[in-house]
Amino acid sequence: MYTLGIESSCDETSAAIVKGTKVLSCQTLTSMKRHAEYGGIIPEIATREHAKAIDYVVNAALKDANADIGDLDCVAVTQGPGLIGSLLVGVCFAKAFAYAKKLPYIGVDHLLAHLFSALLNKDDVQFPFLGVVVSGGHTQLYIVRDIDDYEIIGKTLDDAAGEALDKVGRLYGLEYPAAPHIDRMYDESKVDKSLFNLKPRDDYNVSFSGIKTKAVYIYNDLKKNGKYNKEAQIKVLSSFQYCIMNTIMKRISLACEVYGLKTIVCGGGVVANSYLRSRLNHYASANDIDVILPELRFCADNGAMVAALGARMNKKGIKTALDASIFTRIRK
Ligand code: KG4
Ligand code: ZN
Repeated sequence: MYTLGIESSCDETSAAIVKGTKVLSCQTLTSMKRHAEYGGIIPEIATREHAKAIDYVVNAALKDANADIGDLDCVAVTQGPGLIGSLLVGVCFAKAFAYAKKLPYIGVDHLLAHLFSALLNKDDVQFPFLGVVVSGGHTQLYIVRDIDDYEIIGKTLDDAAGEALDKVGRLYGLEYPAAPHIDRMYDESKVDKSLFNLKPRDDYNVSFSGIKTKAVYIYNDLKKNGKYNKEAQIKVLSSFQYCIMNTIMKRISLACEVYGLKTIVCGGGVVANSYLRSRLNHYASANDIDVILPELRFCADNGAMVAALGARMNKKGIKTALDASIFTRIRK
């Protein structure tokens, strides 16, 4: 009845036990602080920290759930996309565990798992739905017809939303990761919509590298003219966040209209953003659409979302061969 889910694709080492969609435990250790001084993830540091943490999080998750290894039905793990060394730690652990305990082994797609984080501790969802993943490394729109029948209809052509916010925020003096700081300092009354203006697109893709470069030019000008101060920082970063979230909302509403979808399921670290959450909720009530958002604690990478998708795959008889390779880039 229980699924063990393991996540190690980036800088969080996490293990969780779920029963169906109910989370019994979720233990996460992050190496984020070790990367902060470099302003971004250092893959070798992340790999080493995973290797140190994996035993601990799995044991702690079992203990917290009051479960024994004998209670487990299957082992699910993030198989990709992600950093190669980081993925290898979780995948090798999960494969050895499944083999030794004669349990089904299930390799899951990290991005799809993010969508299932929204369904943790909730009733099951009706397919099809529009899946929206907004994270540090990805911005993707999916039509999800079933757990093994989905299509990516839009993606980022360059920087992901989280990456763009983190990089620009850091240039403007905020600590890494900067996106949550921008979220907290966001002031709608200070937004200048003409500062960052993206040309309308007629597809579902997004591109943030142009506005990122514009943010660099604005910063250099402000500095050169002695006009860079707290007020300027809040104005530029609020306008930048507005442009990113507004762009994502436009793609979402276009997809819902064209595909006639009535349910939106969101996941990923950036879905913790208060402004994005309020725009989504507002859009939902104005258009009679169901928006399902993850609890804040399940927005960032975690083992529970991996277990939730793994449990559904196991129920459907979808298993992964023990010699299946990891994948570092988006599949499909
Ligand atoms: O999903 P995630 O943990 O990692 C990936 O799979 O990429 O997302 C991490 C991203 C980072 O860019 C982080 O700055 C961003 O999520 N993030 C936020 C907030 N909290 C975390 N972005 C906007 N607002 C937040 N409150
Ligand atoms: Zn993620």
